[in-house]
Amino acid sequence: PETLLRASFFDFTALAAQPDDIAANARYLEDGLLTLRDGKVVSLESWQIAEGRVDPTRVTDLRGKLIVPGFIDTHIHYPQTEMIGAFGEQLLEWLNQYTFPVESQYHCPDHAAKMSAFFLHQLLSNGTTTALVFGTVHKQSVDSLFSAAQQLDMRLIAGKVMMDRNAPEYLTETPEESYQHTRELIERWHQRGRLSYALTPRFAPTSSPELLDKVRQLREEFPDVWMHTHLSENPQEIAWVKALFPERAGYLDVYHHHQLTGKRSVFAHCLHLEDQEWQCLHDTDSSIAFCPTSNLFLGSGLFNIKRCWQQGVRMGIGTDVGAGTTFNLLQTLGEAYKVGQLQQYKLSACEAFYHATLGGAHALDLDDVIGNFNPGKEADFVVLDAAVSPLQKLRDANSKDIWERLFVMMTLGDDRNIAQTWVSGKPVWQRESEEQIA
Ligand code: GUN
Ligand code: FE
Repeated sequence: PETLLRASFFDFTALAAQPDDIAANARYLEDGLLTLRDGKVVSLESWQIAEGRVDPTRVTDLRGKLIVPGFIDTHIHYPQTEMIGAFGEQLLEWLNQYTFPVESQYHCPDHAAKMSAFFLHQLLSNGTTTALVFGTVHKQSVDSLFSAAQQLDMRLIAGKVMMDRNAPEYLTETPEESYQHTRELIERWHQRGRLSYALTPRFAPTSSPELLDKVRQLREEFPDVWMHTHLSENPQEIAWVKALFPERAGYLDVYHHHQLTGKRSVFAHCLHLEDQEWQCLHDTDSSIAFCPTSNLFLGSGLFNIKRCWQQGVRMGIGTDVGAGTTFNLLQTLGEAYKVGQLQQYKLSACEAFYHATLGGAHALDLDDVIGNFNPGKEADFVVLDAAVSPLQKLRDANSKDIWERLFVMMTLGDDRNIAQTWVSGKPVWQRESEEQIA
């Protein structure tokens, strides 16, 4: 049977090559009808056109709400959920002082299972339906996460961290162990339902050339897996990479040399890239995860959105929890706007929502399956309530058009604006009851 939803709808029907092209592909239906079958979109049309054809008793009436494609978080660490808001340090000290001790707990399957459930609940209650996720070095961290995501039929990409140096002994492994454990996980989880695997070397400083060679080998053996790491986040980090790999031309060249660039390679941050690194990301069709709340919280730097467009590099938005300070993509877009402001770049609501939906799908090479309401797309979406506080009600009511309403939502919004979250054509979270349905 079909599921029919009547509401306002907003999405992007096609990819954009430049920011100026985005609005032309934006679709806003003030009064629309979304038809779903078998977890996929059948059609999105205006209510007026559909009205005569449908049985009104079968329509779920969500008028007054705005439905948008599920948000896509292109970079997040699930084990760091329990350490958001760690005070006072920048990247390298923050890792040593806060991150590594927390990640050590994920050798315990019970802890991993408990935190996986908590983490997925946080994603869904914030309207995020797909994420590219770091686990820890322990394979059980990823087993737990994938099991929990499988039960929800979420489209999730994740991987166990690979690291063999410059981290505490309790979190390191040999390149051979890293290879074997990763291989096991790929065989167990990759392309099982909506789950996919990402090779996840933490970053260059915790990787020996031998480890990176194992990553390369796995990518050759499993050419359709993703690759997920950090790049050019912090000046001390970059100097350290140059000292550790003097034979390489720069930070990105450490990965590129091991054939870890390319489509389905996602590099978080990319704040201090040199010209040839931008060019290499473009030439290899690699992707960037822009993580504004993390970049501000750790004082790492300002991502250059304009340059990213100019270079034609795929880009999505990441929260980077726990260096990021929220799971919520609306708040993250609000911070992305401020990052733009500090560099005279005007991030419109239109562009911001593009990055959080179809653009993010493109960055993850998933734009043929998620990211908008085109027929055949997987039915992952969010029901937004624009006016959940007296201030939001006032500001929403006096907005002149959909663009202003969306901009106000990314400036004032948070998890209260997420009324429902749907995954694979089913409601899995609803705000009224404050609980997960599935
Ligand atoms: N670089 C290496 N590891 C990490 C991490 O856990 N978080 C962030 N933000 N940067 C990293
Ligand atoms: Fe990160």
